[in-house]
Amino acid sequence: MSSKENKSYYVTTPIYYVNGLPHVGNTYTTTVADTLARFHKFCGYDSFFLTGTDEHGDKIQQAAEAAGKPVMDFVTEIANTFKDTWVEFGFEFSRFIRTTDKEHKATVNHILNKIHDKGDIYFGEYGGNYCFGCERFLTDKELVDGKCPDHQKPTTFIKEKNYFFRMSKYQAQLLEHIEKNPDFIRPERYRNEIIAMLKGPLEDLCISRPKSRLQWGIELPFDKDYVTYVWFDALINYLSGIGYPDENNFKKYWSSCEHLIAKDILKPHGVFWSTMLMAAEIPLYKHLNVHGYWVTPTGKMSKSLGNVIDPKAIRAIKTQYGMDVFRYFVLREMVYGLDGTFNYDTLETRYNADLANNLGNLVSRSLAMVEKYRSALTPKAVKYSEQDVALKDSALATLAAVKTDVHNMELHRALEKIWQLIDAANVYIDRTKPWTLAKEEKTNADKTEELNTVLYCQLEVIRFVASLISPFMPESARKILLALGYNEAQLADLLKAEQLASWGMLPTGQKTTKQESLFPRIDVASADTKQAKEGSKMEEVKTQADVIANDEFAKVDLRIAQILAAEKVEKSEKLIKLQVTLGELGERQIVAGIGKRYQAEELVGRKIVVVANLKPAKLMGLESQGMLLAADDGQGLLELVGIDPLMPAGSKVR
Ligand code: MSP
Repeated sequence: MSSKENKSYYVTTPIYYVNGLPHVGNTYTTTVADTLARFHKFCGYDSFFLTGTDEHGDKIQQAAEAAGKPVMDFVTEIANTFKDTWVEFGFEFSRFIRTTDKEHKATVNHILNKIHDKGDIYFGEYGGNYCFGCERFLTDKELVDGKCPDHQKPTTFIKEKNYFFRMSKYQAQLLEHIEKNPDFIRPERYRNEIIAMLKGPLEDLCISRPKSRLQWGIELPFDKDYVTYVWFDALINYLSGIGYPDENNFKKYWSSCEHLIAKDILKPHGVFWSTMLMAAEIPLYKHLNVHGYWVTPTGKMSKSLGNVIDPKAIRAIKTQYGMDVFRYFVLREMVYGLDGTFNYDTLETRYNADLANNLGNLVSRSLAMVEKYRSALTPKAVKYSEQDVALKDSALATLAAVKTDVHNMELHRALEKIWQLIDAANVYIDRTKPWTLAKEEKTNADKTEELNTVLYCQLEVIRFVASLISPFMPESARKILLALGYNEAQLADLLKAEQLASWGMLPTGQKTTKQESLFPRIDVASADTKQAKEGSKMEEVKTQADVIANDEFAKVDLRIAQILAAEKVEKSEKLIKLQVTLGELGERQIVAGIGKRYQAEELVGRKIVVVANLKPAKLMGLESQGMLLAADDGQGLLELVGIDPLMPAGSKVR
């Protein structure tokens, strides 16, 4: 196989039932698929991303009846809503498949005939406990107090003649495949669940429904009195979506296929689908990636609780902050495989800390400095200091780390790694102090080269960051690269992993544009934010204590400061004189009463929080141009308010 053929990638979402609508759960799975497809494109793969709708079966027929609409009209309306919503949210799927598509029906017939012809489908009678929610017979072991544990409803005993797929015939073969391929089903907990199912008795699968009971399905090619069981029909979308039995795309993509699902549909995928493929003599897909559920802070999301985070809420987030913020939040917050809590407070905290303060601040201050010191033209790096090389090395190492995390389905970690690079870039700026170099170069020509190099490194690391985030946050990546002076036509070539193999690709003399509002800070209590919260119908319980108005608190300018020097004030027991830097706000002297608790020497280098806009005061004849924050229990216990050392000096604390 040539290396070009090897570089194909295929990712799927479940096809969503058309008796429901988009919400945060299915939007999440689709976001992950979109990110993976983009990431693989970015890495030079030919990516195919399939999503769509599951439109047959009892549930759908009943929903259409309840809506008083002809079934086909009903399913088309909802399928269009899904498709339009995904387009509106910016998902770049390659195909939107519907199980009512003609080609899909043809593929289902093809597979049914193949398995039937080889004798793996037989006619028989079966009586069992049927869950209409799951649309399948549940085993006695699966019932909890006689009810389906997922739908919390009693099952119905149904006995009828039907067609059965000899699933049990493939039990041992599937177990062997899973044992030989440890990451076939991941994460491990779900692999273990499937192994446990395969180690117990496995019944054959009923794959038909008599038309006397259900008409809304794909007719069996070998018996016109029956329709195909909805799961048997739906799972085949993963093949019909790439044109199977036509070999073209199948050959290209199938061996790389990654299915994304949540834990609710583990058994149909892990067991039904895998054995169906074995019976049809089609090689198995590459990975089944199983994620947990999104829940709200008050528990499970459900329509009856009125806390479903639906497109209205997602749209409110998109309008207020941009779709990238939703993407960043869900991808950073959920550990793939575990449940995640969708909490607006966490979203806002992450937004302010990671996006506004960190990434936004890096971009805005770097571009502002280039404009101020170099007339908005990218300078030429001349000679690299140790710090410059360290930054370059971190940038070059990040891509490999991010690739590993994405391949292991640890997207939250991939983002963590990118944010470590952003942290390193912010620390680099604080250490190299371009604002000081700018002052010094007026009298010392050597400093001009140094400042050029520092500014270049800042911009070049921003190019790395923009490229690395592009699969996760495509709009922001675009905005940043345009601000760095690239034009639209250059973006497609630029957004490629291979562009990150070497440092120094950012051209010199490129015209940059200031970017102040990439991620404007959120005022957590503002009306706009509330609007997003209300859009979600999330219950918001606020306690009223002694309160001050938001604008009163906003008057206090709290900043991170780094202590540069500290010395005890002579003749004073308590006072220490500190020299601190507030980043771009410059240096200050602060006199603080912390001498009983701290030695002057141990304070140098620490990051603290200070009130930066306090009227200067005199203490023992020394001017104090600010006040530091410390916790005081009133009985002698005193502790400086600390902060992560990675936070750059000058950052606002809110
Ligand atoms: N139609 C079947 C799938 C057939 S695939 C061959 C189905 N549809 S569904 O509409 O119920 O979608 C289930 C999927 O939606 C989950 O597996 C998951 O991808 C997504 N989610 C639905 N609710 C979710 C959460 N609360 N949290 C996370 N994902 C959720 O099952």
